[in-house]
Amino acid sequence: MIARCILAALLCSLCACDWMPGRPVRADRPVPGDQVHDFNQLWTNYCSGCHGADGRFGPARPMNDPLYLSLASDAYLRRVITEGVEGTLMPPMVQSEGGILTDEQLDDIIKGMRSAWGQQDAVATSGPSLQGSPGSAKAGELVFAQRCAACHGSDGRGGEHAGSVVDDAFLAMTSDQALRSAIICGRLDLGMPNFRGRVGTRQVLTSGPLTSQQVSDLVAWLTSHRVQYPGSPYPDTKTIGEGN
Ligand code: HEC
Ligand code: HEC
Repeated sequence: MIARCILAALLCSLCACDWMPGRPVRADRPVPGDQVHDFNQLWTNYCSGCHGADGRFGPARPMNDPLYLSLASDAYLRRVITEGVEGTLMPPMVQSEGGILTDEQLDDIIKGMRSAWGQQDAVATSGPSLQGSPGSAKAGELVFAQRCAACHGSDGRGGEHAGSVVDDAFLAMTSDQALRSAIICGRLDLGMPNFRGRVGTRQVLTSGPLTSQQVSDLVAWLTSHRVQYPGSPYPDTKTIGEGN
């Protein structure tokens, strides 16, 4: 009987032991998702799939762009990341809106983007504002011909140096804001020049900087190509799978 008691006590103590060989120590245990505060880890887990590893070369615009970060206020970044952008693939990311990040992690990400990617070069912030007023498609057509057609083709459907910017599926999935951000900041990673005609510090175009009004007009011209049923003609679902 005593032997059994000793055995049971021994087993219990073994099960509860914290020092068994091979048992992970506290430092080896994964950190619960809501307690991660390291910017690189947060970026990799929650943003890199769309905005690219190291904030570049993703399908969505680069955040690794000092010009963009100098124009985007904390309040603006906080709003977009919290709420997402309706009708696009940018999801609401913060718990209060059904996302995954805590408010603290949102701050970690904004601070992290700024210290990793903001202001490496002196960036002139005196540019068109990221928030604009509505423009005129007619005026935008003219600006497009002068400033954009050389790369995107005279009708915007793609040219020698860049693809279509009036594709109906592209326009259906892209907000006016994202178009505006693209025209002002370019795509530093893909070689699209910013409103000053520069890719980073390289001056690509010699025409002067675009004004805020011209940017609004360009957005109006691009979005005038939106169609009611993007992606059509759709495949005939009746004949799919029936063989032929
Ligand atoms: C599933 C893909 C996806 C994920 C994940 C994602 N984004 Fe986005 N994000 C997008 C898309 C697409 C847009 C452009 C939406 C539009 O058309 O306005 C965007 C837009 C943005 C913008 C506004 C850009 C502008 O034009 O001003 C910010 C800022 C942003 N995302 C930050 C983040 C951060 C930070 C994370 C991670 C916490 C993140 N996103 C995660 C797809 C994503
Ligand atoms: C020097 C060539 C060049 C010029 C000039 C140029 N672009 Fe681009 N643009 C690009 C490249 C390269 C891309 C990346 C996608 C591609 O290769 O098609 C791009 C992408 C874009 C995108 C998509 C951005 C995204 O995030 O997917 C838009 C919108 C756009 N350009 C609009 C314009 C407008 C409007 C103008 C005129 C103000 C303009 N571009 C002038 C080269 C150019």
